[in-house]
Order: sequence, then structure tokens, then C-alpha cells
Amino acid sequence: MIERLVRDGTVVARSDGTVHSVFPVAVGAAEGEALRAWVLREGATQTIEIGLGYGISALFVCDGLLANGNPAARHVVVDPYQETRFAGCGLQVLAEARLTGVVEYYAEASQVQLPRFVSEGRRFDLAFIDGNHRFDGVFLDLVYLGRLVRTGGIVFVDDYQLPAVARATSFFLTNLGWTIEEVSAPDDFHQWVVLRTAEIPDTRPFDYYVDF
Ligand SMILES: C[S@@+](CC[C@H](N)C(=O)[O-])C[C@H]1O[C@@H](n2cnc3c(N)ncnc32)[C@H](O)[C@@H]1O
Repeated sequence: MIERLVRDGTVVARSDGTVHSVFPVAVGAAEGEALRAWVLREGATQTIEIGLGYGISALFVCDGLLANGNPAARHVVVDPYQETRFAGCGLQVLAEARLTGVVEYYAEASQVQLPRFVSEGRRFDLAFIDGNHRFDGVFLDLVYLGRLVRTGGIVFVDDYQLPAVARATSFFLTNLGWTIEEVSAPDDFHQWVVLRTAEIPDTRPFDYYVDF
């Protein structure tokens, strides 16, 4: 499935017959492989993705989860525009790859859905962010994923070439003790950064602030 999509670069939506060019909206093969490698390296069983789009990144994450071999593995995907802008193509691709039993889909903006997961006590090993892309959207995703991803877990962020994404990320490095595990080569469309959340609890005094 991954090979076919990367080769053809198009999906025909079963919902309305529209033809969609998958790239450069979706992550490319190099980023997908980096994502899968982190799922494997971390031995992840519970993963979450903000922004399903055409489902390419989700296919790579699920490929890693299946290779890790835990039958209880789940990949949670959050995207409010899947049925409209994407005509259901991401979910269609996942169904064709027979991943419906692994994927849990929420048709909601991440800024609304992530706080719900926090109150439900959900926990994840690894998160992938490729959703709203504006500073405030990414910042909120990072705040909530900081609570949802396990201590010392992985947050893989796409579009690090965008100043808003880089600036939002910077706060967590300068103020919260997160660290950078990997930065990909500069790229006009898809540079990624891999963050590790803090290994120790947040004990900042109330007036702690480092400019970022
Ligand atoms: C660049 S696409 C993701 C592509 C995907 N990674 C792939 O490989 O196919 C960005 C996605 O983020 C979604 N999105 C935009 N705002 C969002 C939000 N507030 N919460 C969750 N998803 C959002 C869009 O609907 C779109 O599907």
C-alpha cells in the first residue's frame, strides 16, 4: 500500500470520485521511514497523530506498530477535515490496508480533542504533529501532548521549516527541559524535528521564564 501510494501519488476518493494528488500535502517516504523507525526504536504500542490527511504518515506509524508485535497496539488519529477537504481518502487508505482495527479516528480539532484525552487519562508512547501549523495551534498541541505522552517519550513534529512551528517548539526546549533527538536536513516542504519530552517532573517556580 505504501509503495503504491508513493509510486502513483494519487488517491481516488470512493466517497465522491474526486482525484487527489497526495504530495506534497502528505509526508514523503523519507519522513515516513524516519517516523516508522522511531516507533520501532521506542517499542511504541500507543501512538497519536494530529492531522490524518491522506493517511500516509499513519500507514508508516501503523507499519511500525505491527512490527513491534503487540496485539493491543493502537494508533489514534485526530482530524476535523477528513470527510470534507480530504473526501475520506485517509480513512479509505487505512481501510484498504486493513488497519481499521488498529486505528481510532476522532473527527475533531486537536485543540478540542486532546484536553478530552487528558481528562480520560489516556497515555501515549509517541505523538506525530502535522495538523494546524499556526503558532497557537502547534503550541496547544505541544502543551497537551506534553501531558499525554509518557515521561521521556517522543513527539515527532513535521514542518519545522515554518517559523511558527519552530518558535512553538522552542518554548518546550528552553523552558520545559525537552530535548532534540533528530532534525532532518533543511527542506522547503517537510523538515522534521524529533523531540523527547522531559525525563523529570516540572518543578518550575511560578516566576520561571526563559525567553524563547
Ligand atoms: C498536511 S495534512 C497531514 C498529512 C498527513 N500527515 C499525511 O501524511 O497524509 C494536515 C492535516 O491536518 C488537519 N488539521 C488541520 N487543522 C487541524 C486541527 N486543528 N486538528 C487536527 N487536525 C487538523 C487537516 O485536515 C489535514 O488533514
